[in-house]
Amino acid sequence: METTPIILDCDPGHDDAMAILLSVFNPKIELLGITTVSGNGAIEKVTQNALRICALAKTKVPVAKGAGVSILGQAEASVEIHGETALDGAPLPNPTFELEKINGVELMAKLLSESNRKVTIVATGPLTNVAILLKAYPELKKKISHIVFMGGSAGRGNRTPYAEFNIWMDPEAADIVVNSGLPVTMCGLDVTHQALVTKEIFEKLEKQNTEVSKIVIGLLKFFAQTYLDVFEMPDPPLHDPVAVALLIDPTVVKTQFVNVEIELDGKYTRGATVVDIFDRNGGKPNVHVALELDFDKFWNMMLSAVDEAGK
Ligand code: RIB
Ligand code: CA
Repeated sequence: METTPIILDCDPGHDDAMAILLSVFNPKIELLGITTVSGNGAIEKVTQNALRICALAKTKVPVAKGAGVSILGQAEASVEIHGETALDGAPLPNPTFELEKINGVELMAKLLSESNRKVTIVATGPLTNVAILLKAYPELKKKISHIVFMGGSAGRGNRTPYAEFNIWMDPEAADIVVNSGLPVTMCGLDVTHQALVTKEIFEKLEKQNTEVSKIVIGLLKFFAQTYLDVFEMPDPPLHDPVAVALLIDPTVVKTQFVNVEIELDGKYTRGATVVDIFDRNGGKPNVHVALELDFDKFWNMMLSAVDEAGK
């Protein structure tokens, strides 16, 4: 079976944790390594969480700690959504292996250099590490086949009225990525707000009745409560695994190739992704923007991964 080699850059975070499980347990993905970035929690917390999810998955891949602050030095953990540990809701196993001695960007560069195939970078947190990689190792761009990121929105934001959290955390990094000249796919709130953890999905997870599915249920119930409290959403959107799912089956999303620019200066709109669906600005198309999700295809993949993890 043809696999897609990926590096997953993330800020676990409940939905990042599910993206790790999908990356480990779907046979069409070859997870080369995990790099972490601060976002859903401080860098130490999200890095420990990445190691704990690897322990839960009983997997060992290189994990390296990445940027603790944005390119301009901004750092903020969104404790309101993911909790004190940045992954509250269920007891997680202790890490079973050590972090890499090199940092996240160095691990990305090492994996790209060593791979005998082009590699897809999947980013489900702020894009700081990816931007630094592109600037510090321009010679490695030829080893990157595709950048898929969860972030942004063609409509409203979630961290501010017009900025989605991952982009808001590091707009300069997002600007570097969308204008990198590489194939870039954006999974923004438009598509991820269709990846809802509904009552029926919880019932399917309950039926699995494994140690892993019970932990996943605990994590997702915490996630659901914060989305209900903060956004009055009855079912929480499982953002990050969408970025992995489209690599497994491109038909899981429908995309449009349009011009996307990042607002860097707006007093109220900094961090907004300006998605020019109707080509009103005349900008060159640079990003494939996912706008529609095949709910059943997505959840079949996600539930199968959790089931595999429990075996
Ligand atoms: O806005 C949602 C995104 O921000 C997700 O990636 C979530 O994990 C947080 O990082
Ligand atoms: Ca994330």
